[in-house]
Order: sequence, then C-alpha cells, then structure tokens
Amino acid sequence: MVVEVLAIVVTLIIILYKFTQNLPPGPCTWPIIGKMRQLRPNVFRSLAELSRVYGPIISFRTGSSWKITVSNPQLAKEVLKDNDQQLANRHRTTGIARFSRNGDDLTWADYGPRFVKLKKICVVELFSSKNLETHRAGREEEISIMIESIYSNSCGKGLVLKDYLWNFMFNSITRMIFGKSCVSSDGELAIEGRELKAILEAQFHAKVSLGILEEVWWLRWMSWIIDGENKALAARIHKFFEAVIHERELERENDNNTYPNFLDALLSRRKEYDLSNNTISGLLWDMVSAGIDTSVVASEWGMAELLRNPTVQQRVQKELDNVIGSGEVMTELDIPNLPYLRCVVKETLRLHAPTPLMLPHQANQNLNIGNYNIPKGSRVFVNVWAIGRDQDVWKDPLVFRPERFLEEDVDIKGHDYRLLPFGSGRRVCPGAQLGINLTSLMLGRLLHHFEWSLPEGMRVEEIDMLEMSGIVGYKKIPLEVVPTPRLPTHP
Ligand code: HEM
Repeated sequence: MVVEVLAIVVTLIIILYKFTQNLPPGPCTWPIIGKMRQLRPNVFRSLAELSRVYGPIISFRTGSSWKITVSNPQLAKEVLKDNDQQLANRHRTTGIARFSRNGDDLTWADYGPRFVKLKKICVVELFSSKNLETHRAGREEEISIMIESIYSNSCGKGLVLKDYLWNFMFNSITRMIFGKSCVSSDGELAIEGRELKAILEAQFHAKVSLGILEEVWWLRWMSWIIDGENKALAARIHKFFEAVIHERELERENDNNTYPNFLDALLSRRKEYDLSNNTISGLLWDMVSAGIDTSVVASEWGMAELLRNPTVQQRVQKELDNVIGSGEVMTELDIPNLPYLRCVVKETLRLHAPTPLMLPHQANQNLNIGNYNIPKGSRVFVNVWAIGRDQDVWKDPLVFRPERFLEEDVDIKGHDYRLLPFGSGRRVCPGAQLGINLTSLMLGRLLHHFEWSLPEGMRVEEIDMLEMSGIVGYKKIPLEVVPTPRLPTHP
C-alpha cells in the first residue's frame, strides 16, 4: 500500500515536472525501474508502439536520466542535422566504458578535436575509395571460399546461413584491419581466430549496462557486485589487440615488406597522428565490433525476405544472369550494373535496419527538438527501424518491394532522413560504403550460384521475422535454408 501511494505521488510529480519543463510526452512511471521492464524484450519495437500512443517524440525516464526517442524523418533531421554537434556525444554504459577504455577509441569517444582526428584517420586510412579498392581482391577471395564451402556442405540439406555469412565477414574484416584470415576454408579457426570469435561472442552476450545499479546514482556503489565479468572481458579484449599490435610491430622490424592493412597504416604514421597503443587497439576493436555483425544481419534478413518473396528472388537472378552470365562470377565491380540488386539491399535495410536505434547520442547542453525542451545529459535515440516502417512515409511499408527504389532513388548514406540505416551527421557510419558493398556481394553471389528454398515441410509463413534484443537486430531464430546449385557448373 505504502509503495503504491509513493508510486502514484512520484508519477504525479513526474507528470507535473514534464508539463512545467515542456518535456516531450511519454509514459510516466515509477522512476527507478521506469520503463525498463516494459521495454523488454525488444526495445525498438516497444518504443515504436509507445510512439503510436504518445507521438513521434517521446521522453521517459529510467533511473536518473531522461531518454528521448524520435521516430519520424523531420525529427530525425532535427537530431542528426540541426542539433548534430550538440548531440554528437555518446553515453557509455559501465561495460562500454570498460571495453573502450573510457572512450579511447572512435565509436565511444566524446565529440571534440580528438574524435574529429580519429574519424578522419579512419576515413583516409581505411574507408577511402582507394583503400576499399586495394582490399577488394581479398574480399572476393573470401566470398569465393564461402560459396565453395556452401557447395561442398549443402547436397540438398538445410544449412544455417548465418554461420557462413559470419565466417566470410570475419575473415574479410580481419584481413582488412590487421592482415589475417582467422577461419580456414574448411571452417576451422586458427588459435587467434578462436580467441577473437570467443571475445566477440562474449561481448555480444555481455550485460554492458548494469541496469538500475548504474542508472540510479545512489545505487551505483553496488555496481562492483556484477561488474566483474565486464572487467574480465575488457582485459581479454585489450590483451588480444595488444598482442596483435605487438606481433605486427615485430614483423615490421624484421622485414620491411608491409601489407597495406589498417594496422600497418596506423603503425607507420603513429607519430604523425600522435596515436597511443591504447588508441590503436581501440580502433581495431571498433572496426571488428562494428563491421562484422551489421553486414551479416543485413544479409540474413535480405535472404529471409527473398525466401518470402520468390518473384523478387527470380528477378535478381534474372538480372545476374543477364549482366554476369553463367560462366563468370560476380565481383564488387559489377554492383553499379546491378540496379535491382542494389534496390534489394536498400529495401532490406529499410525494413531491417541492422542497428534499429543506431547508437545512442547524448545531449551536451540543453536544447530544443520538436518544440520540446531536451535537458543536458539526455540520451537521444533515432528509431530508424520505426521510420523505415512508417506508413506516413512509405506506401505499403510492410511489403518487401525493392521496385519502390527504382521508382524513386532514395539516398541511403545519411542525406535522406526517411532512410537512415547508417545514421547521419558527425557520427554517421564511416563504413557505410564497405557495408553496402559487402551486403551486395553476399546477396549477389548467393543468388547467382544457388536457388534457395526452405527445409522440407517448412512453409514460408513459418519463417520467424522477429529480432533479438541488443544493439544489432539479428534474426531471433537463425535462417535455415536449402541451396540448390543453379549454374551449369560452378565457375
Ligand atoms: C550494413 C552495414 C552497416 C550498418 C547498417 C552500420 C550502421 C551504423 C550506424 C547506424 C552507426 C551509428 C550512427 C550514429 O550513431 O549516428 C554506425 C557507426 C559506426 N560504424 Fe557502421 N554500419 C555498418 C557497417 C560498418 C562497417 C563495415 C564498419 C567498419 C569496418 C563500421 C564501422 C562503424 C564505426 C567505427 C562507427 C562509429 C562512428 C562514430 O561514432 O563516429 N560500420 N554504423
């Protein structure tokens, strides 16, 4: 009874506070637990539902901080363009603070001159068109290994597609970042690969936020009780990347034959860029953490949609047959000549943004969005998943119809606020072009070489279309598919 009365009083205080402070509307509940329980298990879907009730900008409180979510293109523009600089910080949970050494990397760095320098380094040394071209052969070698391995393991049986996509992405990224393939062509992991894969898996399942223990200032002293696992994982991450750096430094001392990978570029210009070992290690960790899952998620969802929409699958295959033919394999150079495949990638990213809430932005001052006050310190999320499914923005939003992008060419790299899978503004994804190339390559090669169907007895309506909770929206139930070779001989 006492608790209930207290909850009602606190709720009334919050309603009054929101009203007098002109905060965005939203649910008013007991502030400590706040909406935490209601937001589970899938935050972006729950937030989209709340937006249907309260409108496209909502505020709510978990613990002692305000959370703001926007879910229409106009408000997304206010967040990512009009208030870009004021919202260019990110909140670091206790786990993230440990893994990133308190922002001594790019993804979790505070906005400022150091962040601007690191982002420029990444764009110049890794993501420039010249660098992407330099590494193209490596990615194409890896995709051929993936296709071979599907040929040899399939024989009409079902396979879990994600495993193949993940190995391909793992090798492509580690080759570009520090010059090593970690998985062999028969799927075996080298020692280093095994450790890195274990780290990424542990990171994926880690409880990066300690929930109310870190949200409520007077409970924070208790965080140590459950922070141990994150601390141990952070030590493991740092040890791994420090060993990678050390090994490469020794190799470079012994022979000058440098490979053009990202780590080499950072090491050879570390004085000019004034980079510590911690920062280099943080940048390597960023690229591996941000680069692998996102494109795997996109490709797995793309294939799920193509199985649900066989006419789309056939149309992509027809385009591939016309442009590539049956005696050649598709390369990244073919992507500009495959307009329908490019539309399939866009349509996939519209319906299944791999990071549905992007990454969190944080207000570094009081500001105004949608005519509401946003207090300094608020965490601001753009629900790009909801914007991609908004019926005021898209015709038949839930229908997978790549043709919509043939009818209207919508930018996907942060210039059109209707379609924001890579974010926009100062914090936009620097790996967008690489992500698009890799997703197009995975889907294009899979569809060129194979006809895809579901395991015997499974109907299309039975494909589960729900996401896992977390920063990246993996399919909750991994897609199981049956490939049948469709080219006369595999080239
Ligand atoms: C389909 C693939 C990808 C998607 C959908 C994607 C999406 C995103 C999004 C939404 C953000 C946050 C934007 C914001 O907060 O405003 C981001 C940031 C980032 N992404 Fe990607 N990404 C992809 C691929 C990649 C790849 C391949 C790499 C690197 C190898 C990469 C590296 C990064 C980094 C380092 C950041 C942090 C940038 C910053 O904080 O300034 N991403 N990505």
